[in-house]
Amino acid sequence: MEDKLRSLQQEAIEKVNEAQDLKELNNIRVAYLGKKGPVTEALKGMGKLSAEERPKMGALANEVRGAITETIEAKQAVLEKEAVEKKLQSETIDVTLPGRPVKKGNHHPLTMIVEEIEDLFIGMGYTVAEGPEVEKDYYNFEALNLPKGHPARDMQDSFYITEETLLRTHTSPVQARTMELAKGKGPIKIICPGKVYRRDTDDATHSHQFTQIEGLVIDENIRMSDLKGTLNVFAKKMFGEDREIRLRPSFFPFTEPSVEMDISCKICGGKGCRVCKGTGWIEILGAGMVHPNVLEMAGFDSKKYTGFAFGMGPERIAMLKYGIDDIRHFYTNDTRFVTQFGTEE
Ligand code: DAH
Repeated sequence: MEDKLRSLQQEAIEKVNEAQDLKELNNIRVAYLGKKGPVTEALKGMGKLSAEERPKMGALANEVRGAITETIEAKQAVLEKEAVEKKLQSETIDVTLPGRPVKKGNHHPLTMIVEEIEDLFIGMGYTVAEGPEVEKDYYNFEALNLPKGHPARDMQDSFYITEETLLRTHTSPVQARTMELAKGKGPIKIICPGKVYRRDTDDATHSHQFTQIEGLVIDENIRMSDLKGTLNVFAKKMFGEDREIRLRPSFFPFTEPSVEMDISCKICGGKGCRVCKGTGWIEILGAGMVHPNVLEMAGFDSKKYTGFAFGMGPERIAMLKYGIDDIRHFYTNDTRFVTQFGTEE
């Protein structure tokens, strides 16, 4: 029995020393010291020994068990340390490596222009108002002095949804809605950016969907000179301090008088070139003094209140500002186009 215990000890210690990892070590522990292991088995056989031998063998068995346990514990400490070191090594971060560049997006050029115009007017005390794209015929036309059958409705071929609803053809209905909400009490000072829709065939200068920005100011004593001064500030901030503006008489059913605003051509400085078609001027927007009918329909006393309104197309402004020759570029989402306009955050 003594020999058997000694050889078990030697065998176990050899195996422990050869163990490669903690799992293997644990298997060895179970195999030698477990309930069904040979050391336990040997101790069970003690009953057959003589009374003299029994304590000797008992002590020896405990010694063997102790020696194996000690070796396992020592080996375990070594393996655990190794495992930690291995893990640390595999997780080492080389802080000297250059970082991977993060690709930064940029705003769509139209968004940039719309935000630039918004900021400009917010700086002059305006607030931003919005309205629905699916609009009532009433706000899109009637409340803007365009009754059913009015010939000016032909200027705007519309996408009708029902008899009474359509995709708005301009952002002017937001003025009618805002005035109505104000219940006849001024002042109002808003700009309204948004998408509009027309039954146009898409080409370099037409799109069935585009954007507009509407402006509206209502108060007592608002005059044409206020409109002109406001548009002058806008044109210079947008296109450069050296730009001149001029107002030409025009017609819109919702304004009286109505005007169109041109800016002096930046390319030729007013001498006449291809871009301005030889005139030295470039048309930018439509505007005018709010028609008394429009004020009255929205519940404003047109004797007390006057106002001006203007409407412009951000696409056209972006095209002029950046020299873009085709409106379709804004909507085809070619990243080679949309990423050309700088990163703005
Ligand atoms: N709604 C007009 C259009 O779509 C643009 C416009 C012109 C708006 C004159 C105005 C204005 O407010 O006064 O063509």
